[in-house]
This record gives sequence, structure tokens and C-alpha cells, in this order.
Amino acid sequence: MDVTLNVKRYNPDAAKPASYNQEYRIDLEDGSSLLDGLIKVREEMDGTLALRCSCRSAICGSCAMRVNGRAVLACNTKMKDVMPKDGSPVKVEPAGNMGVVKDLIVNFDVFWGKIKAVKPWLQPEGPVPQGEYLAPNEAMLHLAGVMGCIMCGACVSDCTVLEVDKNFLGPAALAKAYRFVGDPRDAHEKDRLKDLTKYGGMWDCTRCMQCVQVCPKGVDPMGRIMKMRDKALAAGYNNTYGARHALAFTDLVRHGGHLDELRLPIKTFGIFNVKEMLKLAPIGMRSQMVGKVPPLFPKPIPGIQNVRRIFEKVEAKR
Ligand code: SF4
Ligand code: SF4
Ligand code: FES
Repeated sequence: MDVTLNVKRYNPDAAKPASYNQEYRIDLEDGSSLLDGLIKVREEMDGTLALRCSCRSAICGSCAMRVNGRAVLACNTKMKDVMPKDGSPVKVEPAGNMGVVKDLIVNFDVFWGKIKAVKPWLQPEGPVPQGEYLAPNEAMLHLAGVMGCIMCGACVSDCTVLEVDKNFLGPAALAKAYRFVGDPRDAHEKDRLKDLTKYGGMWDCTRCMQCVQVCPKGVDPMGRIMKMRDKALAAGYNNTYGARHALAFTDLVRHGGHLDELRLPIKTFGIFNVKEMLKLAPIGMRSQMVGKVPPLFPKPIPGIQNVRRIFEKVEAKR
């Protein structure tokens, strides 16, 4: 199999460090992984190419990088699956949202800092038991998936919010937070939820699903974030913009069967919140100019009772 790799390189030791792209043409066995290809390049063509790997079995989490613009583990990505049909090179870049140390190696300090910020350890109440701290199996089952996280950073690499807001805790840290929020042996669920509703926490996720798609272990970080939102609302932490936005959204759809974009920001921010209302004024003016301002007194859609029945059914299942 003849493959051309286009690798984004960065050498911090160069007189003038700068990113550049380098192409390598290699011959590989059919079932080879992307990591096999990169190791071949390093061993046979260019010993200066820096990359990180260890287990080569999707266990250690050290070989996350971007291929054709999407985060993957290089060791469990078949080369032939990422070769563009038009014969163009396979584009290989370091993972995103983290600083590059050299070539395909990124600095995980920010990643670990965010994990540490969610206090990823059990905080039980009372004396620590002498033996094993047992929890019923059924109470732990929902955590099995999230405990499969190998800390590879693929989700962080492709999180669309982290790209614009470095303060966001991000998918890996929030999934880790869920692991302890949902642990029956932890006595600080409410404190944790309260912290996680602050700026940078669970309400800053835009539900783009990137983390779900790129996670090689099926951790479903976004799903965990949504579960924490439910828990936070149930615990009464509903006085944040994010929580009010979610509640307003559902109330409006339940009431009228559609989203009332005029009332949504008013219910989210409060009509007397001049600062936020002023920020929205340009959007309001643009909507006015193109005739997109929603009616002042919108009517419910025909068949609204069916929409309300859906709400009732969903709520009964909770
Ligand atoms: S769903 Fe949320 S956490 Fe996941 S990548 Fe998108 S913004 Fe980030
Ligand atoms: S949640 Fe998935 S993608 Fe994110 S660090 Fe864990 S294993 Fe990697
Ligand atoms: S080398 Fe360990 S996960 Fe890829």
C-alpha cells in the first residue's frame, strides 16, 4: 500500500520556530495503522519526527492526534480508512486545543489542570472504612462507561467551545466530574454540582457532539454533561444563564410548540438586565431589517396538545 503522509511539524529548537508541513511517501502492509506508518517514517526516513505512543493497543491514551482534521488514536486507526479517495495525502496534525511541544506532541498541562479542578477523588462522609468501600453493583453500572476514559485528550482536541473559551472545563474533565457526582459513595454531590454550574462548567457546553464522535472509548462526555445538568436542576441550581436558558427553551416549546426567539433571551437574562439586553440589540436590529422578528403575541401551533403530551411522557419517565 503506497501512502503519502502530510505531517504538520514544529521544531521549538529551530533558530526561528515555526510550523511547516512535510510530506513522506511510504510503503505499508494493507492492515497497517496510522501509528505504524508514522513509526516507519521515524525509523526509516526521518529520526527527527516527534510523536508519542506506548501501548499500540488503544489503552495508554498517548497517541491522540488529528487526522484529516479529526482527532483519533493513531494506533487504532487503520491507514486505509483515512486515505482520501482522490489519492491526496493523509493530513496528520497534533491534537488541538493544547500547546504543541514538538511536531505531534502536545502539552497536557492544561488537560490535567482541568481534570484536577473537578476534584477527581472520592469524598465520602464519616470515617473511611477499613476494608474495601463497597457500593451496590447496580448503583455503579452507569459509571462503567465513563470509567473507561483513557485520558487521551481526543475530545479536548476537538471541543468547539474550548477553541474559543479556554476557561471551559471541557469534555474530559466534565466526564470525570460526572464519575464522582454519580458515585453513591461520594457525599459531596451537591457541592460538586454547585461548582460545576459556574462559568466554564456544565452550562457552557454547546452540545456540538464532537466529543461523542471522537472519543475512542465510548465515554460519551456530552451525555454525561447533560445528565449533570438534570441533576443540577433537580438540586435547585437553576439560577444561572445556562439553566434559565434551558428551562425557558422547554417552557416556550411546551407552551407554543415552537421556539419564541423574542421571549427566550428575556426569560434567560431578565428584561431588566440592561447589559445583556444591549448586547442582543444588534441581533434584534438585524432581524428587524430582514423581517425575521417573531410576532409579539405568537399563537400555539395546530396540534399543540400532541407536543404537550410528548413533554408529559418524557417527564413521567424521569
Ligand atoms: S458537546 Fe460540549 S463538551 Fe463536547 S465537544 Fe461539544 S461543546 Fe465540547
Ligand atoms: S472522554 Fe474519551 S476522548 Fe476524552 S479523554 Fe476520555 S477516552 Fe479520551
Ligand atoms: S499507543 Fe497507547 S493508545 Fe495509542
